[in-house]
Amino acid sequence: MQGKLTVDPANQIAKIDDRVYSALIEHLGRSVYDGLYQPNHPQSDKDGFRQDVIDAVKSLNIDLIRYPGGNFVSGFNWEDSIGPKSTRPTRLDLAWRSIETNQFGLHEFMKWTQKTGTRPDMAVNLGSRGIDAARNLVEYCNFPGGTYWSDLRKQNGAEEPFNIKTWCLGNEMDGDWQIGHKTADEYGRLAHETAKVMRLVDPSIDLVVSGSSTREMATFGSWEETVLDHTYDDVDYLSLHRYYDNEENDLANFLAKSIDFDEFISGIVAVCDAVKARKHSHKTLNLALDEWNVWYHSHKQDGETAPWQQAPHLLEDHYNFEDALMVGTMLITLLKHADRVKIACLAQLVNVIAPIMTDEHGIWLQSIFFPFLQVSKYGRGIALTPQQTATTYDSKDFKDVPCLDSLAVYNSENHEIVIFAENKGNTTMDFQTDLHDLNAQTVIEATQFCGYDIKQTNENQQMALHPNSNVHLSDNTLTASLQPLSWNMFRLH
Ligand code: AHR
Repeated sequence: MQGKLTVDPANQIAKIDDRVYSALIEHLGRSVYDGLYQPNHPQSDKDGFRQDVIDAVKSLNIDLIRYPGGNFVSGFNWEDSIGPKSTRPTRLDLAWRSIETNQFGLHEFMKWTQKTGTRPDMAVNLGSRGIDAARNLVEYCNFPGGTYWSDLRKQNGAEEPFNIKTWCLGNEMDGDWQIGHKTADEYGRLAHETAKVMRLVDPSIDLVVSGSSTREMATFGSWEETVLDHTYDDVDYLSLHRYYDNEENDLANFLAKSIDFDEFISGIVAVCDAVKARKHSHKTLNLALDEWNVWYHSHKQDGETAPWQQAPHLLEDHYNFEDALMVGTMLITLLKHADRVKIACLAQLVNVIAPIMTDEHGIWLQSIFFPFLQVSKYGRGIALTPQQTATTYDSKDFKDVPCLDSLAVYNSENHEIVIFAENKGNTTMDFQTDLHDLNAQTVIEATQFCGYDIKQTNENQQMALHPNSNVHLSDNTLTASLQPLSWNMFRLH
């Protein structure tokens, strides 16, 4: 099987935005409680934060943390989560039919972002609440002082404003499961007015408006058109969400869904640009892919979980090797859209559809941790347009699927070229990269992630990245053998 990637430093997609390596933390299941926050656990620090989780999050080089949801935010009163912990109310979380104690709130979250070197991406509730709660929250977080809400922040221990830059106008407002679900016109009007008022409090903030929660929505496309008709001039990013599954147990078709992912992103870009043209606008709207991942293993168990528990086991997918390959091909796909996708949040980060899991003993890393780790660490710089030829296959829903998915990133600061390549085929691939005049002389690192049963999960921590010694670099050509069903990375200098 053959695969060839040609890259030309003159042929660039865009500089990759650091914010594409972001993640979602939602008050859901054991994400916050027993994940980020577990007072009295031997691994927890004096604030009750799990130090082992902090270390693992730091290793992933995450930029933004979207918070506090997800569906949770659409029923959340942010005021419940501030002030002395003993006075915070315990509430029903109607989104996940759980009990929310509010013991981890806004100030705890901000402190946790500092400890992990991440930055907040705050969602406001446009489901059960609206303009008033949103403007008060911006005042509480970002106004220096001398007003009711900013002084309350000081009283609660934060003298300096949090200066939260990025804000999401609600979550998945197109879905009828959402608390306070709206039509596109209703949401568009509300988002417009909320954006206006939030900006009156702090003109420097960036705003993300909610797009479709999945490509399968009946309103997909028309939702974006209508919402952007109302908000195009008010917002900086349009959000989109995408999760994949292999319910059919068809690996070839599962991995081919990167084509759907690619079409999904291109389709949304087209809608944004159509609205731009219709409005005679000079502004180009970029995308926040602020939820993406594989999600399906936990569906059955979640359906059987009793309601109204504190920190129940919910959405605890145990990811297998094929899921890691899917996450790898999704990462390459989103980097191919680096010109328009400026924010992307892996959903989620800890315990809930997550790369990092906790138990009473410590943490364990899921299969999907490994491709994310490598792309987040080394996928920094300029994404180069991939010109690719490869053996193809047909699957149930897709024709001419390339067995190879690959992309090169050029980091001009250290003159490093990083190639990510996935072999989706069942046999070894002779892989070649024509590096044009990039003048690479040395292979700094060549790793492969392969050889596991496709259904193997990683509770026992047996998975690891291994060196690939079948690599040769000369005359600006890299040749390598890619193992069947493998995720690969090559770093050249
Ligand atoms: O990430 C889990 C859920 O998926 C989020 O709460 C919601 O926004 C999406 O449907």
